[in-house]
Amino acid sequence: MKKSLVIVGNWKMNVGPGQAGERALTIAASSAVQEFTAAAGQVVLCPPYVSLPVVVQRLHHSSIRVGAQNCHWQSEGAYTGEVSASMLVECGCTYVIVGHSEQRRDQGDTDARVGLRARAARGAGLIPIVCIGESAEERQSGLAEDVIHAQIDTIVSEAGVDILRHAIWAYEPLWAIGTGLTAHADDIQDIHAAIRRRCREHHGFDIPILYGGSLTPDVAHTIFAQPDVNGGLVGGASLVPSTFLQIIKAGLHE
Ligand code: PGA
Repeated sequence: MKKSLVIVGNWKMNVGPGQAGERALTIAASSAVQEFTAAAGQVVLCPPYVSLPVVVQRLHHSSIRVGAQNCHWQSEGAYTGEVSASMLVECGCTYVIVGHSEQRRDQGDTDARVGLRARAARGAGLIPIVCIGESAEERQSGLAEDVIHAQIDTIVSEAGVDILRHAIWAYEPLWAIGTGLTAHADDIQDIHAAIRRRCREHHGFDIPILYGGSLTPDVAHTIFAQPDVNGGLVGGASLVPSTFLQIIKAGLHE
């Protein structure tokens, strides 16, 4: 691999503890994963909270790391239904996704709140995978870059610039998530380059940037080949081990 990629499987609200361990093991046993990590790539699986313990346990001897799909910004307290970053560390997680557009859409997450979540994640020692992305209307109005810049600036100002020492951006255009409409490779490259510039010039850091949104084996190679793409956040296509492994194999050729 010419560049080290991070490929994250986001299982969303799929795969309970009864199936999660076996699915994780199937992925871990593949020679593609072993080759990928030997070449400095990183595979991360993000199952639902309840499946974290079994996945962590099954992947104990594997190079695959485990992440959660969200965390609260407080470390403990009266927050019914929530899970803190330190609890995820206790469970064996290394990563956590924050700011996913489905959380923004369904739970009212804002950029400021995403920043607080990212800060809590870093404080607990997790690597936050911070999701940003524009809507279809914003893209059609030519506002995609402005929206992304504003998201980055607000998140960084709430989280503190230090989170960028160990964080990852996931660029996920809203209209591409779960729709089968993958963004065009040239557009992905343009936005990733803009994200990188913003982070370097305004915040002094250069961090990995993943693409997410209907990432499938058919398009993975072309997307990973873009100079400013450092991997992928894969939803639907990570649910079937053989399909997810094809995406990892595509990464091997980059
Ligand atoms: P998708 O989801 O690959 O199913 O579009 C990506 C994500 O939401 O992280």
